[in-house]
Amino acid sequence: MAELHPDIQEILLEEQDIKDIVKRVGAEITRDYADKNPLVIAVLRGAVVFMADIMRAIKCPLSIDFMAVSSYGDGVKSSGVVRIVKDLDTKIEGRHVIIVEDVLDSGLTLSYLVRMLKSRNPASIEIAAFLVKDIEGKRPAIDPCYVGTHVPDKFVVGYGLDYAERYRNLPFVGVLKPSVYE
Ligand code: PRP
Ligand code: MN
Ligand code: MG
Repeated sequence: MAELHPDIQEILLEEQDIKDIVKRVGAEITRDYADKNPLVIAVLRGAVVFMADIMRAIKCPLSIDFMAVSSYGDGVKSSGVVRIVKDLDTKIEGRHVIIVEDVLDSGLTLSYLVRMLKSRNPASIEIAAFLVKDIEGKRPAIDPCYVGTHVPDKFVVGYGLDYAERYRNLPFVGVLKPSVYE
């Protein structure tokens, strides 16, 4: 049992749960991309922790690159406006692309990114999302091929996920106490 951070009300995923998820998703991607030399793209900043783990769980040749976008800023709600802060350094035409994300919430960030990257004519493009938020009565704007696990519609932090740039370094995923942001 991980020690509870004072700002966390409940732990959703312990370190061991995360390890199991990474291993499973890594095996799925390895199976599907064995001879495709995929370009694995992480979306900064939230995806860095999952990226570092998942790239080592994918047991086939690959290359990596990073993009930085921001949709949340320091708030708790998606602004709906996706801002490209840093573009790729790699040409993706003809490449098999996998986008790695920490969390798919409204799906706005990813649907925007996929649309933008498709216009550069990759051979294929898929999403690996560590978390997918289950929002009642709402389907996310996009359907990821690889999903770590689903989480309830609460403000979750840790393992890369932040609130106002904090908590990214927590080794577990937990629910933030509402008193922290209210
Ligand atoms: C968060 C998260 C995803 C996105 C998900 O990023 O890391 O990228 O929001 O939300 P959506 O599905 O509703 O678009 P954020 O913009 O907070 O930037 P960060 O990764 O630097 O924290
Ligand atoms: Mn993000
Ligand atoms: Mg954020």
